[in-house]
Amino acid sequence: MGCHGGFNLDEATRRSWYNPEAILKDLRSGMVFVDVGCADGFFSILAAKKVGENGKVYAIDIDTSAIEKLKQKTKAEGLKNITAKVGKAEDTVFCERCADFVFYSMDLHDFSDPARVLQNAKQMIKPNGQLIDLDWKKIEIPFGPPVSIKFSGEQAAGLMRSAGFTTAEVRDAGPYHYLIAARP
Ligand SMILES: C[S@@+](CC[C@H](N)C(=O)[O-])C[C@H]1O[C@@H](n2cnc3c(N)ncnc32)[C@H](O)[C@@H]1O
Repeated sequence: MGCHGGFNLDEATRRSWYNPEAILKDLRSGMVFVDVGCADGFFSILAAKKVGENGKVYAIDIDTSAIEKLKQKTKAEGLKNITAKVGKAEDTVFCERCADFVFYSMDLHDFSDPARVLQNAKQMIKPNGQLIDLDWKKIEIPFGPPVSIKFSGEQAAGLMRSAGFTTAEVRDAGPYHYLIAARP
C-alpha cells in the first residue's frame, strides 16, 4: 500500500502531475530544508542535491520502512547531508529558527494534529524562511486520498494563519494539486 490513498507513487506519475523542480525553485546552496512526512524522500533527495554539502535536509516520517528506504537511497546517491528520523511530526522540532524551508508534500491533511505540526514549523523556520505546502485539491478524482479528508487550499491557508503565518495566495500546481507559501 502506498501512502497516497492506496497506491505507490512512481516518479513518472508524480512528474505528470507537477514539476518538482519548480516547487523547489527557491532552494539554494547552503540552505536548510525540513521535509515533514517525507515517506521515502522523493523531495528530500531532490532538496539535498540542491542545498549541497554546505546545506542540510532534515526528514521525518512515522513509517519506519519508508525512512529505511530513504536512508538506502541517501547512501546509494552518496549524499551526506540528510538526517532522516522515524517519529511523529507532532512531536518533532529538529532545531530552533534553523530552517530556510519547512515543507509538506501531500500530507498536511494526514497529520492527526495539523495545528501542532504547524506550531512546530513555526519554531523551526528562520524569520526570513518559508513554509511550503503542496497538497491535493479538494476535488473528486479516482485516485489519491478520499475527498472527505483533503483540505481545500483555503482551509489549509486558514490553518496556517491560525498558527500565526502570513500566507501568500493559493497557487495552482497542476490538475490535482495546489501550492501555498507562508511566512512566519
Ligand atoms: C501522502 S504521503 C506523502 C509522502 C511524501 N511527502 C511525498 O511527497 O511522497 C504522507 C506521509 O505522511 C506520513 N505521516 C502521516 N502522519 C504522520 C505524522 N503524524 N507524523 C509524521 N509523518 C506522518 C505517512 O507515513 C506518509 O509517509
